[in-house]
Amino acid sequence: MSESVGAGDKLVVENATKYYDTKSGPLHAIDNFSMSVAEGGFTCVVGPSGCGKTTLLWCMAGLHDLTGGTVKIDGETVTGPHPQVGMIFQEANLLPWRTLTKNILLPFEIKRQKPDLDHIDRLLDRVGLSGFGNKFPRELSGGMQQRVAIVRALSFNPSVLLMDEPFGALDAFTRDEMNLLVEEIWLETHKTIVFITHNITEAVFLSDRIFVMSARPGRLVKIFDISFARPRSLDLLATKEVFDLVNEIKAEIEHAPSQGAGGPQPTTVKGDRAHG
Ligand SMILES: Nc1ncnc2c1ncn2[C@@H]1O[C@H](COP(=O)(O)OP(=O)(O)OP(=O)(O)O)[C@@H](O)[C@H]1O
Ligand SMILES: [Mg+2]
Repeated sequence: MSESVGAGDKLVVENATKYYDTKSGPLHAIDNFSMSVAEGGFTCVVGPSGCGKTTLLWCMAGLHDLTGGTVKIDGETVTGPHPQVGMIFQEANLLPWRTLTKNILLPFEIKRQKPDLDHIDRLLDRVGLSGFGNKFPRELSGGMQQRVAIVRALSFNPSVLLMDEPFGALDAFTRDEMNLLVEEIWLETHKTIVFITHNITEAVFLSDRIFVMSARPGRLVKIFDISFARPRSLDLLATKEVFDLVNEIKAEIEHAPSQGAGGPQPTTVKGDRAHG
């Protein structure tokens, strides 16, 4: 079960398989999953809870080893934490006793690298947090904390941004705001983004491509190309095209066989189809 790999692909996952060792025996988290992400592409991965999405993302970042298969960035196999990869998690993970600026600077301290303070100031300004550098996390809303996490991830100027349900804990209104912000930043910076979410509407709003995973062990069941014009407006979410597409993706997840390898070959639905 493989995905065709194009010449310009920034990030390529080939036949990824992951077993965790647990007290009750090996746990099969991902099964022969392949995906490729074009340079500068915005890709979402959706799938049911526990299907292996976070595992996949951690393997992409070099934070977990695969049991089988490879992850390549710029053609080179990822074997450990990769300098070109920035990560954003569901929780902002800010240390409560450090100001925002000091939270952003922490990874630089750990790596003993000199930060570009002007760049960080520009990023804080870009996410609407200019002048907030001396605040503490408790003084900020959840959405503002995630803006700090975005700045922290971008402060290294990574070419690949991996985002694991970053807005899952936010209310719907704030999530919409954050999605607009992420699209704007992506259009400005041309980062290659892989974004994981349970929320199919969010995936449709953000992506160029959606990879749909089956229930655990996570396998690739379908690829959707999404070609709505950019920048996208929230009005898009109220259209019948999006409604139908979301339902089609939901049906793929619900009907995918859940256990064991050797399921059906994944298919790609092209943008024209996706637009009804
Ligand atoms: N470190 C670990 N050790 C053992 N099992 C693990 C470990 N991490 C994850 N798992 C198991 O692997 C499977 C996939 O987990 P993972 O967190 O990747 O799923 P997910 O798709 O991100 O789920 P969710 O949508 O709930 O975040 C789950 O059954 C989980 O319990
Ligand atoms: Mg997860």
